[in-house]
This record gives sequence, structure tokens and C-alpha cells, in this order.
Amino acid sequence: MSLSNNLSKILIIDFGSQFTQLITRRIREFGVFSEIISHKKIKTSQVNKENISGIILSGGPLNVYENDKFKFDKKILKLGIPVLGICFGHQILSKELGGRVKQSKHREFGLATINKVRNSKLTKNFFNKNNTNDVWMSHADQVSKMPKNFKVIGSSKNSKLTIIENVKDNFYGVQFHPEVTHTNKGKILLHNFVFLICKIRKNWSSKDQKLELIREIKKQVGSNKVICGLSGGVDSSVVAQLLNKAIGKNLTCIFVNNGLLRKNEETQVVNTFKKKLKINLIYVNAEKEFIKKLTNVSDPEKKRKIIGNLFIKIFERYAKKIKNVKFLAQGTLYPDLIESRSVTGSQTSKIKSHHNVGGLPKRMKLELVEPLKFLFKDEVRKLGLELNLSKDIISRHPFPGPGLAIRIPGIITNEKIKILKEADYYFIKALRDHGLYHKIWQAYAALLPVKTVGVMGDNRTYEHICLLRAITSEDGMTADFYNFPKGFMQSISNEIINNIRGINRVVYDVTSKPPSTIELE
Ligand code: XMP
Repeated sequence: MSLSNNLSKILIIDFGSQFTQLITRRIREFGVFSEIISHKKIKTSQVNKENISGIILSGGPLNVYENDKFKFDKKILKLGIPVLGICFGHQILSKELGGRVKQSKHREFGLATINKVRNSKLTKNFFNKNNTNDVWMSHADQVSKMPKNFKVIGSSKNSKLTIIENVKDNFYGVQFHPEVTHTNKGKILLHNFVFLICKIRKNWSSKDQKLELIREIKKQVGSNKVICGLSGGVDSSVVAQLLNKAIGKNLTCIFVNNGLLRKNEETQVVNTFKKKLKINLIYVNAEKEFIKKLTNVSDPEKKRKIIGNLFIKIFERYAKKIKNVKFLAQGTLYPDLIESRSVTGSQTSKIKSHHNVGGLPKRMKLELVEPLKFLFKDEVRKLGLELNLSKDIISRHPFPGPGLAIRIPGIITNEKIKILKEADYYFIKALRDHGLYHKIWQAYAALLPVKTVGVMGDNRTYEHICLLRAITSEDGMTADFYNFPKGFMQSISNEIINNIRGINRVVYDVTSKPPSTIELE
């Protein structure tokens, strides 16, 4: 997505941090346009000074002295644009301006308390009344000597130069991550940088985003035909509506029933999109094809690749039937990308291949249209409202492309799918009945690949374990488990065991992300 070149913006130079997109997002939340560019791609000579009000150097997994592993053109610091360095960005800024960076004696990962040393525009209203604040650190190196004309604004016990500034040249550096929610009042610090230091005006909203994305789609696809993989979830629904607005009848949506959907999902989707929204929709029942390909496959990455490939094959098959289709539109989001590969080409480590990204075949006949690939879930939801989608669609919990396959660790069988569909149905229904559905970001049931002994009606049983997962989150990048009242846990456990043959034990997953991920595979 190359967004409007005329807008004033905050430019973020990405050095491969998992959190780079969060910085952009925070800034867009302030109503200010911001764009990311990889350190590998930025050319100072091509930077248009006029519309860049500030530059942020992101964190990253690098060491500032490993010059061969990254690119940094010092000239960017001579443009007279305010610069904020975060973590690695703080270190590279310090080093390039004549300071020094060394390995920390005490590495800091997680929460650290910092103390105020002096006042600064950057930290206005950031410190608590007792002049301390809790911030989130993740670094092994630290700035050991400041460049000339810099002053210390805040220190932690293990890193004295945690916040530094050179007011005259508008350079600022912070060792911690103000963009993550774990840093108390991190948004205030970023807000100060954007408005008090960069002095940019608000210029960005969901409405602007909608118009810009529609313009981009028109530009990319022209008068060609597009098929859109519709799952009925919020992402693909928003993509379908965007495309509908951009190209109208040149769009055909394809809904593939891969046999790994939630109970009754296919009927609901067809009813909503074909009957209510009158979208041009083809329903494909490919249950048997998917299950056959997944026979005896237990490796999570293999499952994801098989499913991703088969989806594409089916889309291509139908594209041929429709004729002259050149593009495939998908609801890929930024977290899908960042956890499969880096969007900007900087180095982040691969966690899993989200099916609409890493699962794509190397040679694909259709070109991709992925208008949401720079957005987070909550931004997509706002966009959905802007596109007049119903609240019911917009507030649905996310459901992964590979569906129940990644909620059945180990080998998948028809019997397991049948049991899991029922368990998931009871769990989600109970959440709705207890008014909990909308308090939870995502919830599901999974079937573990072990059987345990139970006793029912005086008889021994030897059946599956059902795992329940319910999390709260802002964007799926980090998550906490939801703390259910004991009564709810008791009643759902009873309901599942009493109603579903094949499960005799229910467990609740109480891990957060990180260290776990939301899905099991
Ligand atoms: P993880 O398990 O990576 O999940 O913490 C983060 C969010 O992404 C969803 N997810 C997927 N969505 N295709 C998708 O469209 C996928 O392959 C995929 N894998 C995970 C997951 O449900 C959660 O909301």
C-alpha cells in the first residue's frame, strides 16, 4: 500500500522489531498519518523533507556494530527533521552521533522502573507523581556514552541513559518500548513526540483510510476481474465490501467449505452474503478434498501449507471457470504477515506460516490483492463500520484460515472434527448466553491428541481432552487468558461432557501470548 504522498507523516524506519507496526498504529490512532520503510530500502536522497514531520527509528534484533547486517545512512540525521530512536533506534542514533554502545552487564527484559532526571517536552505528563514510571524493556546492549550536546532525561537502575535528548537538534532516544501496552503511559510519550516536538496536525481517519484503500484497489486491478476468498469473518468481509465499492460487478467471492469450519458456519455465511448483502458468491463444498489431503499429517507447518495450497488451487480452478480473472483478494492482516515474514523486508523471526501468507504456493497464477495487510484487527473493525457492515459481522471473534485443523493437534480424523465442532458450538453458545462473548477477543475449543480415563455412570471411560481457550487482546499480537468465574467454568465443563460423546475431560488454557500463541499450532 503506497499511501498518499502528499500527506504530512511520521516516517518509521524499520530495523526488524516485532513491534514496528505498533508504533505506526499508535500514531495513526492519534489521527496522524504514518508510514513504515525498511532500513534496507530508504534512500535519504529520495526523502521528501516537505511532508515528513518526524522520523522514528524502530527497535530490532541487531547490534549497532554489525555494520554489514543493516543499512543506515547518517545523512538522514542532517535533514533537520525531529528524530526519536527506540531501543535499537536509540542505540544507532547515539552511536552515529558520536556516542558509544556496549553490551549491558545486566540485560533488561520485561518491566523496569525508570526515574526522572530532568524535565523534557518528550516526557510531559509521562512520569508519575513520585517521578518514576514502569516501562517495558527488551535489550542486551545499551548506550554507555551519550553523543555531544545530549542530556539525560530518565535512568533505570541498570541503564543510566534510558531517555536522552538533544533539544537543539531535536534528537530523542529511549531504550524502552513506548509503543507496547506494558509501558505505562507509553502513548503519552509518543503523543508528545508527534504533537509537541514534530508539531504535526491531525490528518488521518477511518474514512480517509477507506477512500485511500478504494483508490489503491482501483489502481491495482483496473478493469480486470477479481475473485475474493470469503470466509465470513471480519477481514474477508471487509475486503469484499471494499472491492465491491471499488470494482462492483468485476468481483466474485468464493466461499470454500473445507470441512474445518465451525458448526453451521457454511449456512450462515451463504445466508448473510448471498441473500442479505446480495454479493456475487460461489459456494464450493471441498470437504472431502481437504480431509483427504490431510490424512495422516500431524506436523503443524505441513498442515498449514497443505491447506493454503489447496485453497489457492480451488480459487484458481474457479477463476478459470469465471474467465479473465487476474487477481485474488484476501483478508491478510499485518499480524499474519509479521509472524510469517517481515512486511518491509527487515529481519524478524518466523513464528508460524499463517495460511494466507506462508502457505501460498511459490508459483501462483493469480496476483494478490491484500488491502488490509498493513492494518490491525481493530483498525479493520473500524473500517468495517465505515463500510456499513453489520455489527454482528464486525464483532465476530477471529477464526483462522486453516480452521479446526490447527485446533486438533496431531492427526485429523472425521470423528475428531465432528466432536470438536460440537464442543466449540457449546462453548461459544455459552459465552453468548452468559453475555461474555463480546468481553472476549477470541475463544475456541480444541481437541488434544491424548485420551484420559474418566468415570461416568459407574463405568470407566477412555476419551479425549477438550481444551478451552479464551483470550483478551488488542490486536492478537499479545494476549492474556480471560478470567472466567468458577461457576461458568463448571457449567460449561458439565455441558460439554454431558452432551458430547468422546470427551471426558475439559481443561482451560491459562497461558498468555507470549510465551504461547493464541492458536495451538
Ligand atoms: P497466533 O496463534 O499466531 O494467532 O497467536 C494470532 C491470530 O491470528 C489467527 N490466525 C490465523 N488467521 N490464517 C488466519 O487467517 C492463519 O493461518 C492463522 N493462524 C492464526 C488466530 O486465530 C489469532 O486470531
